[in-house]
Order: sequence, then C-alpha cells, then structure tokens
Amino acid sequence: MKFSNIVSVKKIGRDFFEISFNIDSEVRAGQFLMVWVPGVKEIPMSVSNLKNPITISFKAIGETTKRLSAMRPGDRIFYRGPYGNTYPDPKGKTAYVAGGTGIASLLPLISAYPGDVYYGMRTAEDIVYKNLVNFVSTDDGSMGFKGNVVDLFIREKRKYDTVFVCGPEPMMKYFHDKINRNEYGNIYYSLERLMKCGVGICDSCSINGFRVCRDGTVFDHEQLNIMDEFGTVRRAESGRRIFLK
Ligand SMILES: Cc1cc2nc3c(=O)[nH]c(=O)nc-3n(C[C@H](O)[C@H](O)[C@H](O)COP(=O)(O)OP(=O)(O)OC[C@H]3O[C@@H](n4cnc5c(N)ncnc54)[C@H](O)[C@@H]3O)c2cc1C
Ligand code: FES
Repeated sequence: MKFSNIVSVKKIGRDFFEISFNIDSEVRAGQFLMVWVPGVKEIPMSVSNLKNPITISFKAIGETTKRLSAMRPGDRIFYRGPYGNTYPDPKGKTAYVAGGTGIASLLPLISAYPGDVYYGMRTAEDIVYKNLVNFVSTDDGSMGFKGNVVDLFIREKRKYDTVFVCGPEPMMKYFHDKINRNEYGNIYYSLERLMKCGVGICDSCSINGFRVCRDGTVFDHEQLNIMDEFGTVRRAESGRRIFLK
C-alpha cells in the first residue's frame, strides 16, 4: 500500500468528484487503482487522467466514495496499483460508448484520440464532461435521446472501425447482444466486477474462469462471446453467485 497527498478535489457534477494526486508509477489507459479508505474498505477506481497529478473520477454513492468525496487537498490517499490490462490504441474511425461512471475509464482515450462520444445517464442533472460528449441519452428524456445509450448508438447508424464500451454490466450486455457485429471493426469492453485483491488471487472478480482484475478489465467482443456469466451472474461479497435472470 502506498500513499500520496491529495493535490485537488473538485466537484464536477451533482454527486460527481475528481481527486488528483501524484503516483510514482506509470499508468496506462484502462488501468485502475485499488483505493483504500481506512475504516471503510478498498475499492477499484479507474484512472481518468494518466499524467501526474493523476485523477480518479467518481460518483459518491456509498460509504467509501462519500468518504473520498469529503477529502481535502493535503489529506493522505492510500492506493495500490495500477492494475489490469490496457485499452489498445484505436484504429480508424472511433466511437466511445459510456454509461454513468463508466466514462471515467474511457477519458484517457477520449482525450488522446478523437472520436464520437456517446454518453448515457439517468437524468440531465447527472451530466459531466459535457464538452467532450457528442451524443447524450437520459433515461427520463431530460436531455438528448430518451432511453438508453445503446439504443441511441444503434439509432445513429454510424460506422466505426473501433468501438470502446464502458458502463454498468447490464448496459454492456445489452450492447453486446444488440449490436450487429458485422458493421464494426474491433469492439472493446471494460468490465466492472466486485474486486477485493485486484491482482488475480481471491477470485471475487472471476467470470467464466477469467479474472477481470488481471486478465482484464478490457476484453474484446469475441472474448465476451464465450463468457455466459457476462450480464447473467454476479458475485456477492461472500463469493456466492447471484443469478441476474
Ligand atoms: C475496475 C473498476 C473500476 C472502477 N472505476 C470507477 C470509477 O472510475 N469511478 C466510479 O465512480 N466507480 C468506479 N468503479 C466502481 C466503484 O468501485 C464503486 O463505485 C464503488 O465500489 C462504490 O463503493 P462504495 O463503498 O462507495 O459504495 P457501495 O456501498 O459499494 O455501494 C453503494 C450502492 O451503490 C451501488 N453501486 C455500487 N457501484 C455502483 C456503480 N458503479 N453504479 C451504480 N451503483 C453502484 C451498490 O450496489 C450499492 O447499492 C469501478 C469498479 C471497478 C471494478
Ligand atoms: S479481485 Fe481478486 S482475483 Fe480479481
């Protein structure tokens, strides 16, 4: 476990925050840190800006993220990593499809490689990184397309050589099932699963024998074809398998 002194804390949306701090290792697009909040727990966080001071971008939804959001410049932040594989560099015409906090993982690519950014959220009040987004969907129709970001992407009928997808697993499963595979080049997904060790030991993130923390988090479309637990089974903190449908 390492620690660093926080350089800045910014509130950039309703419950959305960015924390920046310096780390002593190189980090690449798609990788994550395990961030420890003493007395609460350790959680995985994508690195949304790769250059020091690096940034994590998150929604304060539970105890750990709420405690993080209350931290101030100069406070110590504890972390391990970076862990996980990386996104490949995009080739040709590129699209980014993000749901909710999934946009954090895609930000390093979005800022380095031009492409169309599709972003879905519950309601207009949740929008962040507005200046980077080309196509917006909201569940309640308060901004952009009314519905989910996958249906928006399909409705636009644009052709892409590379597509990157990150969001809640049901959203990525819907994308994987609905998309006409023949119309796109490479499609990459970054999976979010319950993680404890982050380094391939505890098995809490496993999906059909793949350990998301070490073999992923980035998988291509064809790898997901052979994971029948993708979008259908998740793990409880105890390790018990929970069937989603
Ligand atoms: C590899 C990886 C990278 C991640 N990167 C980010 C990131 O960059 N930014 C970020 O905000 N989150 C990210 N997450 C998710 C993040 O780890 C969770 O938000 C975190 O576990 C919440 O912890 P908590 O203790 O605050 O909330 P918890 O107490 O664990 O959860 C509170 C409530 O929110 C629900 N919940 C948990 N996670 C989510 C979610 N992502 N969306 C909606 N509801 C949720 C829970 O089911 C629960 O009901 C990542 C997850 C993984 C696996
Ligand atoms: S989190 Fe422990 S094996 Fe992936």
